[in-house]
Amino acid sequence: MPLKSLAAWTALDAHYAAIGTEHMRDWFAAANDLHPTRAQRFTLESCGITLDFSKNRITDQTLQLLMQLAHEACVPAARDAMFAGEIVNPTEARAALHTALRAQNPPAPYAAQIKHEWNRMVDFANQVREQQWRGHTGKPIQSIVNIGIGGSDLGPKMLCHALAPLGDPRLSMHFVSNVDGADLQRVLSQLDPATTLAVIVSKTFTTLETMTNAESLRHWLLNHGVPEAKLGQHLVGVTADPAKAVQFGILPEQVFKIWDWVGGRYSLWSAVGLSALLYLGPTHFAKLLAGAAQMDQHFREAPLIRNLPIILALLGIWYRNFFGAPSYSIAPYAAALRYFPAYLQQLEMESNGKSVCLDGSFADYETVPIVWGETGTNGQHAFFQMLHQGSTMVPVDFILPLTPEHELAHHHPKLLANCFAQSQALMLGRTLEATQQRVGPDQQAICPHLTFAGNRPSNTIMLDALTPHTLGALIAVYEHKTLVQATIWNINPFDQWGVELGKQLSAVIENDLVTQTVNQAHDSSTRALIAHALRVTHL
Ligand code: F6P
Repeated sequence: MPLKSLAAWTALDAHYAAIGTEHMRDWFAAANDLHPTRAQRFTLESCGITLDFSKNRITDQTLQLLMQLAHEACVPAARDAMFAGEIVNPTEARAALHTALRAQNPPAPYAAQIKHEWNRMVDFANQVREQQWRGHTGKPIQSIVNIGIGGSDLGPKMLCHALAPLGDPRLSMHFVSNVDGADLQRVLSQLDPATTLAVIVSKTFTTLETMTNAESLRHWLLNHGVPEAKLGQHLVGVTADPAKAVQFGILPEQVFKIWDWVGGRYSLWSAVGLSALLYLGPTHFAKLLAGAAQMDQHFREAPLIRNLPIILALLGIWYRNFFGAPSYSIAPYAAALRYFPAYLQQLEMESNGKSVCLDGSFADYETVPIVWGETGTNGQHAFFQMLHQGSTMVPVDFILPLTPEHELAHHHPKLLANCFAQSQALMLGRTLEATQQRVGPDQQAICPHLTFAGNRPSNTIMLDALTPHTLGALIAVYEHKTLVQATIWNINPFDQWGVELGKQLSAVIENDLVTQTVNQAHDSSTRALIAHALRVTHL
């Protein structure tokens, strides 16, 4: 049945009309917030993660209706189909089994190949970390360069940054993704080829950016004294198409395999995470997998109303489809999670940035909101002004590790206080009357500027500590949230046809630039852009 015809959807529409303008401040007022309090009713804990979702524009009835929606949209069946390895990506006729990569008992047809590849990765990582694997001059590897883009970059980069205190201090980690040569050149200028290992990661081994960077890096190695016969000591590949990696010049025994049933943005659990495995070591990486597996279990077994990914997904639907919120923001209060917003951008927007339903019809409702964000407290001094007083409501996910990973203990209460104060201020706001009472007579005229509407929703997601285990669980939360939302929107979260057109057109334009001819078939704007570039630049 079409989404908007579901009984729960109609009921949520009516419910929104009834409570959409009510203020959370009133719900939290002492006289109304009796036992159990909102905070008690709307807090969940699992896998070292505590989610306080009480500062949302929901009542108990909202939650019941959202649960009804999840049932009517067959969310449990979609979840089970994914875990069972059914074809949940019909436009590519593929399963999506990233969960099998971290399962203790993966589905039978996959178990042996997953184990085999994991053992190869661990064996290789141990050789590099124990300095048995050496460069062509006999020196141990000191620098790892991950060449990849999108899912072949964002995941391992995010992990290495987030868990850096656990990384091998003898290894310096570098990530090159952009086809802008400045990216690769900046990294190469810091490296000694004799002690560098490049990990070339591409599921397809055809991606323009990655292939261009890999080729340039190969030349750099050859031009800086690495004999062709010893290139193998400096190059490994990760791909679902090993023949292409071998054709590129990587030794077959140094190609690590992934499979078509692992989507790029869901792939950090596979050999795509090799750079992170090299840096963090197998023990920590295994804990990451275990944390995600524990969250998988929670997602499969916890009742929907106590289920972390389900709650986050349904709150997202509530704001996107009923309040019309065009975006939501991720605010990790941890410098270590600097790359987490970018990681989630790909996960959610490449997955659910679709407007065609599984049956080929157009969705007559909004799908994924824009995902954006920045670490706190930095964001507070950039765009939080807009979150507090802008004309658009932007729900926020605050993510906060509670245990500091550093020794500057006096910083930590300041960090925590800022995080809690932001969600409090967004929720409470400050009325005009309260503002007028607060300021002196000379400031009465500017009181409207000092007033905050409040009623701005947020989730606070606290990790006991930022460990491989909790990080694995946190990533899995958002993966499953993405699946739940896709199921409700009736779209396929596992394909990404939207990136294809630009790729095709860029090949044509690149040819124009290189041959210095302006193809008259282009529109006048594109013709003018190419002509202008050819006048200004020397290619
Ligand atoms: O951006 C499109 C995309 O296909 C992503 O889904 C993927 O993670 C990225 O490009 C890189 O692809 P590959 O791993 O095949 O190089």
